[in-house]
Amino acid sequence: MKLAMKFVLAFFTLLLSAPLWAQNPAQNTAPSAKLALTPPMGWNSWNKFGCNVSEDMIKGMADAMVKSGMKDAGYQYVVIDDCWQVSRDKDANIVADPQRFPSGIKALADYVHSLGLKFGIYSDAGSKTCAGRPGGLGHEYQDALKYASWGVDYLKYDWCNTTTQDARASYANMRNALDSAGRPIVLSLCEWGTAKPWLWGKEVGGNLWRTTGDIQDRWSGKKEWNPGNCCSYGVVDIIDAEDAIYSYAGPGHWNDPDMLEVGNGGMTTTEYRSHFSFWALLAAPLIAGNDLRDMNPEIHDILTNKEVIAIDQDPLGQQGRRVWKDGDVEVWAKALAGGGRAVILFNRGETDRQITAKWTDLDYPESMAASVRDLWAKKDLGKSTGKFSASVAGHGVVMVRVGP
Ligand code: GLA
Repeated sequence: MKLAMKFVLAFFTLLLSAPLWAQNPAQNTAPSAKLALTPPMGWNSWNKFGCNVSEDMIKGMADAMVKSGMKDAGYQYVVIDDCWQVSRDKDANIVADPQRFPSGIKALADYVHSLGLKFGIYSDAGSKTCAGRPGGLGHEYQDALKYASWGVDYLKYDWCNTTTQDARASYANMRNALDSAGRPIVLSLCEWGTAKPWLWGKEVGGNLWRTTGDIQDRWSGKKEWNPGNCCSYGVVDIIDAEDAIYSYAGPGHWNDPDMLEVGNGGMTTTEYRSHFSFWALLAAPLIAGNDLRDMNPEIHDILTNKEVIAIDQDPLGQQGRRVWKDGDVEVWAKALAGGGRAVILFNRGETDRQITAKWTDLDYPESMAASVRDLWAKKDLGKSTGKFSASVAGHGVVMVRVGP
């Protein structure tokens, strides 16, 4: 082939393989450009139900999202995780389990949409999903077209069975496939933090990226996860992993410390309140993982606390971070639009402790008189100058909004 011809071919190959919007990021016209400007909120089947998914259960969960007031509190996406898919047909179209989803995925998406909610689904960048169902490798554009035709609004894309695949290239490919299908679809990168997706997730059009191995319904302790593979995480282990990467989160692109375990039974109410408070301070996606059809009042009140949710959804889009630590007691803070701060006084220990947040640690002058509101007691505590102190139960938090 003549050299000039080779150059022309190389140029067009490059043009076609680059994300359309990457050619001029300032004029990003991709359908997905303005998605997830605040952290996505919704529900996902995995933490509670694993592979035990069906259209009846998902419909029931969508109904419960509305009836319980979760929709009013901001929850939106109803996401089926692994195991909805069984095979590919003769034309390689992905096939949903006909026993568990007899009406098909499009009918289910239509039902979810009819309630004013959005619909999400799960696949995997490798040859098979983590539960061994057909993966997306080699079928990215075909699957994206299928998802768009079903009315999918959110895709969680996992990382099992990817052998030597490059994570960044694989997720860029799926984002391009989704954008080419013409429907705005939130892309959730479920790569567990192995290839540091916070460094490149935004550039490839990921809206959220997992930062650790799977959360499990316990307060603390990493455990072996899939034989020989480290680790599943407790809530405290995940909190500790998020501090160093706070600066990578922002509107449209979030660190994802994994889905909520609130209400699944393995922790105390105090611990679940701490779990939820931290996810809000970390500007994390709030994806409930419990049975919404069967919530006790304490769990309901945690998941629907609108003032805590407002911290998560604050339009400035800053992730909070640790600003002070002394042994088992810590202060975490998140800057809010309008100059306020969300503050968590955190007690990792077993017994009550007095904890103080100093204004200088919040980047406020010591002399400033600031209003303090307790977001769990839902009570104004008046003005404080220089600092705020409170007694905090073991494994508990006091979460306040501080403002000039
Ligand atoms: C991985 C993911 C989980 C879940 C399962 C499904 O472990 O990290 O969140 O999606 O796969 O098999």
